[in-house]
Amino acid sequence: MRNIAILCSGGDVSGMNAALKRFVEYSFDKGLTPYFVEHGFEGLIDNKIYRASYSDVAGIISRGGTKIYTARSKRFLEQKYRELALNNLRSHGIEYLIVLGGDGSFKGMQKLSDESEDIGFSGIPSTIDNDIAGTEYCLGVDTALNIIRTAIDAIRDTASSFGRAFVIETMGRECGYLALVSALTCGAEMCLIPEIPYDLNRYKKHFKKQKEEGRAYFIAIVSESLQDSEQTAKWFEDEVGIESRVTVLGHIQRGGNPTVYDRLMAFKFVTHAIDGLLEGEKSSVVCYNAGGFSRQKIENVAFKKYQINSELLKFGKEFNALEKYKVQKV
Ligand code: F6P
Repeated sequence: MRNIAILCSGGDVSGMNAALKRFVEYSFDKGLTPYFVEHGFEGLIDNKIYRASYSDVAGIISRGGTKIYTARSKRFLEQKYRELALNNLRSHGIEYLIVLGGDGSFKGMQKLSDESEDIGFSGIPSTIDNDIAGTEYCLGVDTALNIIRTAIDAIRDTASSFGRAFVIETMGRECGYLALVSALTCGAEMCLIPEIPYDLNRYKKHFKKQKEEGRAYFIAIVSESLQDSEQTAKWFEDEVGIESRVTVLGHIQRGGNPTVYDRLMAFKFVTHAIDGLLEGEKSSVVCYNAGGFSRQKIENVAFKKYQINSELLKFGKEFNALEKYKVQKV
């Protein structure tokens, strides 16, 4: 039997366990022996590699996080550790490795691929940030968005009861995707993300007018990379004249029961990864665009900057241009 391994690297996402389950089951279907690597590239260096069986993935589909743990590895930047990692894979007779992670993990995978001829690598974009070039969807994003939605709906209850402005900070590293989609789908009044310039003075005029006309509370979504949540809350107090609070959603965005969409995407991503490896692809990332899957070279994914989809950006710009207030009655 041919051996195939999988590891999770970088920030965990809900849907990784669903991917592990599909990995084990589909590997057996294809006549492969599945292996787990624990703790990402760290575990690869430390030979934390073991054979996986059906019982390892029983009952995990509904759990967030990853059963095989994850890590961010500094040692992996050094060639001597990558050599150790490759030799560990070889010692188990592993011919294929699937990496669930973000662009940093794919850069590591690319190095491994460049340094070995005998092993095939496939990446599955997995990050709540949704910031990987070449794919419009990364595993875990839908669950994160649903968690943000639940949190915003709850915050709205207290914001309306007290008549306060709430500044809600979402994760996303340098990418405003989570903040933008959350603002558009949760009825926020303000959305600040790095991709779209904004002018708080314009907001001030509209918000003051709305307040005079009876608006009792505001919901503002701010992307973490702006590091602007506290200042924005102060701005609400000083310039709009409304008491404000900040809620940093933090790591709750990374956990929780994976949505149906993420479970299905986990299933499909893994299926395409294994199919690609068996078809002889040595180094690719499974990407999802316009409703379909394709496999792209790692360098076209890991070393390019992700741009938020242009239609979404257009909606975000309209949002910031405050077009909606022209017709809104409070
Ligand atoms: O990349 C995923 C992510 O959750 C980012 O949104 C966030 O900036 C970062 O990881 C947090 O990293 P850590 O879990 O190491 O604090």
